Amino acid sequence: MTDSRIPTARLGVNGPEVGVQGLGCMGMSFAYGPSDAGESRATLERALELGITLYDTADAYGAGENEKFLSPFFKAHRDELVIATKFALAIHPDDPTKRIIRNDEPYLRQCVEASLQRLDVDAIDLYYMHRRDVNIPIEETVGVMAELVREGKVKQLGLSEVTGAELRAAQGVHPIAAVQSEWSLFSRDIEANVVPTARELGVTLVPYSPLGRGFLTGSFAKAEDLTADDFRRQQPRFTGENATANAALLEPLHTVAESHGATPGQIALAWVQQQATVHNLPVIPIPGTRKPGRVQENAAATRIELTEDQLSLLEPIAAKVAGDRYADMTFTSAGRE
Ligand SMILES: NC(=O)c1ccc[n+]([C@@H]2O[C@H](COP(=O)([O-])OP(=O)(O)OC[C@H]3O[C@@H](n4cnc5c(N)ncnc54)[C@H](OP(=O)(O)O)[C@@H]3O)[C@@H](O)[C@H]2O)c1
Repeated sequence: MTDSRIPTARLGVNGPEVGVQGLGCMGMSFAYGPSDAGESRATLERALELGITLYDTADAYGAGENEKFLSPFFKAHRDELVIATKFALAIHPDDPTKRIIRNDEPYLRQCVEASLQRLDVDAIDLYYMHRRDVNIPIEETVGVMAELVREGKVKQLGLSEVTGAELRAAQGVHPIAAVQSEWSLFSRDIEANVVPTARELGVTLVPYSPLGRGFLTGSFAKAEDLTADDFRRQQPRFTGENATANAALLEPLHTVAESHGATPGQIALAWVQQQATVHNLPVIPIPGTRKPGRVQENAAATRIELTEDQLSLLEPIAAKVAGDRYADMTFTSAGRE
């Protein structure tokens, strides 16, 4: 394991150079069971030492708690890193345990002010629409997001889980720096439309859940391995017979890992990274971890190159995955393509 900094890639056509792997910070406050704040802080510091400069959060992660948790780290290193956050997942007015999607101007303006306040920064470097509200034309929402850029509140715009057509429509209003969507050895639906559109328009791909939410590392094998409040217990591919069938798909990943003297997680990350070459566009995955040793392991994957034979061995996996990425796929790009 070397301590040298990871390579860089450009975030959007005229955007900053960032480490070619970012850090997903969601699990530090939300979705994946209990976290140790001290260990999470050590993970952030270790990531920066390794050259990881794109940090991913959202207002929805712990109802603002994740942004608040990250704020001291961001402020201490403001000139060294790029802050990405998101809006669009609102608390349901009748049931605070549920979320609804909102892309309207009053809501968006309220969100950006709240995120700026929680983060305690003058501007957000990359502001994503987290989910698409199909009742509002995307041009309208991106028009308001573009106003935020002109007002200096936001530097670059991003979209999450949009279709190829939605990305194209948005780009007609304002340059989109990045699309953040799920992309891994287990989740390849965006390769049909979103990836080719992003390549054509010069948009950077930011794959989320590149470790298949941890399943590809072997850190859990089924829903029952997770704490009762863990979000992954609701995901069809990790429950019952689906989980058993999907665990059996990992064998080629283990074979390739052995031949590199690497972990399966590192090979999963190397595969996503190498999609930059396969599809000819910038790709900056954001694996999530709360452990310094794991961020180091994940960063080291940026130096692994898979051979054509190894890529071929891994190629059939995604088509065989049992169960959807989410229980409700209507709010994903694949659900609307
Ligand atoms: N735009 C969206 O809709 C959306 C949706 C989901 C996620 N995201 C973003 O994408 C980021 C990454 O996605 P994700 O966290 O869902 O999934 P992921 O990166 O595929 O996997 C994260 C899981 O893998 C574990 N892990 C990480 N590195 C590991 C290693 N080297 N060995 C063993 N286990 C390891 C983590 O556990 P520990 O934390 O305990 O290390 C965590 O449980 C999130 O943090 C979030 O910022 C965005």
